[in-house]
Amino acid sequence: MKKKKPAIPSDALVFFGATGDLAYKQIFPALQAMVRHGHLDMPVVGVAKGGIDLDHLKARAEDSLKNHGGVDPAAFTKLCSLLRYVEGDYADPATFATLRKTLGNAKNPIHYLAIPPSLFATVAEALQKSGCAKGARVVIEKPFGHDRPSAKALNRILHSVFKESAIFRIDHYLGKEPVQNLLYFRHSNPLVEAGWSRHHIESVQITMAENFGVSDRGRFYDEAGAIRDVVQNHMLQLIACIGMEAAASGSHEHLRDARTKLLKAIRPLDSAHVARGQFCGYLDVQGVAPGSTVETFAVLRFEIKNKRWDGVPFFVRVGKCLPVTATEIVIRFKQRRHPVLDDTVAPPADYYRFQLGPKVVIALGANVKKPGELLTGETTELVAQHQASDEMAPYERLLTDAAHGDPTLFAREDAVEQSWRIVDPILANPVPLQEYKPNTWGPEKPSPSLIPQGGWHNPAPA
Ligand code: BG6
Repeated sequence: MKKKKPAIPSDALVFFGATGDLAYKQIFPALQAMVRHGHLDMPVVGVAKGGIDLDHLKARAEDSLKNHGGVDPAAFTKLCSLLRYVEGDYADPATFATLRKTLGNAKNPIHYLAIPPSLFATVAEALQKSGCAKGARVVIEKPFGHDRPSAKALNRILHSVFKESAIFRIDHYLGKEPVQNLLYFRHSNPLVEAGWSRHHIESVQITMAENFGVSDRGRFYDEAGAIRDVVQNHMLQLIACIGMEAAASGSHEHLRDARTKLLKAIRPLDSAHVARGQFCGYLDVQGVAPGSTVETFAVLRFEIKNKRWDGVPFFVRVGKCLPVTATEIVIRFKQRRHPVLDDTVAPPADYYRFQLGPKVVIALGANVKKPGELLTGETTELVAQHQASDEMAPYERLLTDAAHGDPTLFAREDAVEQSWRIVDPILANPVPLQEYKPNTWGPEKPSPSLIPQGGWHNPAPA
């Protein structure tokens, strides 16, 4: 993908929430990888109210790396030489005065708010008052608001401090290599592109299954639920990547225009197009409200009103405590029976299967002739499998891009608001919840309108 890098790269990277879960699981591994690949050579300032000092932060970084990908001694030593730490409360102006001093001569810092959304406004305003926002960029973690009005309100606050071009809203699914490959696979293969429409495709289904619950995130999760946690963002971005028209050029705004245009064509969801489930045992998780009716599983059916996709349902199924962890897209073609064949019924539909993780797989399900006199067949899968090696993990890619001012893989204001427009109706009037047993594929009695033609494809265990 052609990318334009602006002339001014960031000259310091600040991350708020330095002692938090996200920093531990994602940010330290991303920072070490950035150093290893030569993408990080500027002061890195952790900010938190963690009651620690710089040595403790380094120890935490090392521990994080031991548990997430391993310590690379050379890269880790370099990362430690870049690390600084500012201890303080986000509501206290002194914290930001110290941050400004710590930034020294840096003129174009990038501030990554890896903190709860309720603190975004406080931190953005404090950055402005302290002079830390001058010439700066800001990276915001999801969830971006909890509905469309709150997303708009948050956008207004951020815009009072930063220009839209300086705001980078993270959706780490956009930074995944196999998600990039969806676009490449389609646009680089005329054969694929020729069949990519309602004329040939019968349905699209996406499963995002996780075989674990919400153990240490009960409080956060109970305020979100599956639809806010992964559908409003990751799943809708995947639908946009599958369904979008070719962008007018590789420029970041053309690519973001094309994704947003597709989102604009998706009808708002109504209750007939959603089912919600909760795994038995969720109510016992620490931090979950007594009697909570938050969903840990959802099945949804999206409709796209445009020339390419009219009449093609896009099904999405997401859930915690399912039998496997895998994210998979199945694009099913229309079934056809040709008079030349001896099959008495139409052979199974062809399909593309894209597994985005834990394995990276692109497969084509197609029919071939069974040996023998008759022209009858059987289905086979042609599999192109690509195991991840040292390729960029999403957070490394996204932080590197943001530090270079490249917004291609970040959600733009209008895209975020469109995504909320689509899911808001069913969040405001949730359908009743059904229980399901952990280690099953969700509630036992799904509504027939939420089952794709040919059934759900359950990803195999890795
Ligand atoms: C996060 C959600 O955004 O994505 C988590 O908050 C979810 O609940 C995670 O587990 C899944 O990401 P990935 O990259 O492991 O599919």
